[in-house]
Amino acid sequence: MFITFEGIDASGKSTQVKLLEKYFLEKGERVILVREPGGTKVSEEIRKILLSKENLEMIKECEIFLFCASRAQLVNELIIPKLKQGFVVISDRFHDSTTAYQGAGRVISLEDVNTLHKIAIKNCLPDLTFFVDVDYEEAVKRQINDKKSKDRIESMGEKFFNRVREGYYAINRREPDRVKIVDGTKSVNEIHKEIVTIVENYKK
Ligand code: TMP
Repeated sequence: MFITFEGIDASGKSTQVKLLEKYFLEKGERVILVREPGGTKVSEEIRKILLSKENLEMIKECEIFLFCASRAQLVNELIIPKLKQGFVVISDRFHDSTTAYQGAGRVISLEDVNTLHKIAIKNCLPDLTFFVDVDYEEAVKRQINDKKSKDRIESMGEKFFNRVREGYYAINRREPDRVKIVDGTKSVNEIHKEIVTIVENYKK
């Protein structure tokens, strides 16, 4: 099973990724957890270029190619082999991030985005995706409490993140069976329980 987590920055998805990993491990499943961009040596190198605030001049076409390049490496080097070996693969972000951030956020057509997905991931689509939804205001509040300095993409403003969030809603409307919206303002435990229920009810 291949499960991905999505959401705007500071949505709390990474906490849920770890809790779901623990859930599968306790059930005796073999699980591998990856993050995007990253997850392999080459992809982690690409991540540094993408997130560095030294690279503010990066154009959106360069950005989308790099995200897709990082993902192509991860899919081929790790995700496909692990799925073939029977692992549950959980990814903290995947191709929907590109559709939401570069497609809706940076304004690149869905047709172009989908062409790149076809090249980068071919048929390696997630079985289930959780979109952990919080609004921009809530995300900013959490980032202030976090005190971690923002990367190049996290530094974008409210209009950008509202477009990204809308982009996620649009993906949910197109693929409601795969992409489940969970309310990120609920407690960590409530969200986890909701996610586990959906996973347990999932039928291939
Ligand atoms: P992270 O903070 O969840 O590790 O993600 C890194 C940043 O990269 C985050 O701001 C979202 C962004 N991103 C994209 O813009 N497009 C993508 O395809 C991916 C995977 C991430």
